[in-house]
Amino acid sequence: MIIAVDGPTASGKGTIARALAAHFGLPVLDTGLLYRAVGYQTQLGHGDPDNAADALAACDFPDTLLDDPALRYESTGGLASRVSIHPAVRKALFQRQVDFANQPGGAVLDGRDIGTVIAPHADAKLFVTASPEERARRRHAEMRARGVDVTYDAVLADVHARDARDTGRADAPLLRADDALLLDNSEMDINEAIAAAIAFVEERVRRPS
Ligand code: C5P
Repeated sequence: MIIAVDGPTASGKGTIARALAAHFGLPVLDTGLLYRAVGYQTQLGHGDPDNAADALAACDFPDTLLDDPALRYESTGGLASRVSIHPAVRKALFQRQVDFANQPGGAVLDGRDIGTVIAPHADAKLFVTASPEERARRRHAEMRARGVDVTYDAVLADVHARDARDTGRADAPLLRADDALLLDNSEMDINEAIAAAIAFVEERVRRPS
């Protein structure tokens, strides 16, 4: 079984994808991490993330980079969203994601274009979202808990900037697949959102569309 989980930044899609993977006993791939690795590697090499050739060269990053805590930084998310605009970068990362999705037994993948580009044949697709204000509120609280000194307004501005880049790009924009469940969790806590996601996938398995 292949489960595609897409959605904007700070929507809870990563947590939901990991919970689905644990529940159904499937491997999970956070595809955002691949774009983060490319963004970070571009910076390490003193390249320009807005330059397609620099970003493409960074697609050759070593696998050990995927364990680097720096990939989780907010600033690395910004770099990822800049390098992910380049079609050559998306093409370079394409096969790795497709192979992960199509492994025997299936998989869960979370990202922006899983249900539309990487695994359009997925058995269950979810589009996880929440209002920009709620996503900024959650991210702000999480950053403050980690001791990062940042204002809510700055986080909200970053959420809007990331959304605009992810939905506005020409190649594989962030888009809900027609057959994806819209899971708006603005008014839910994370446990309610996970329960709704599991119930949806179980229903899809019982009654494939
Ligand atoms: O999900 P995460 O915030 O880690 O993703 C970082 C950035 O990588 C996103 O803002 C998006 O621009 C890009 N991305 C993408 N396609 C994916 C996953 C992430 O373009 N499948």
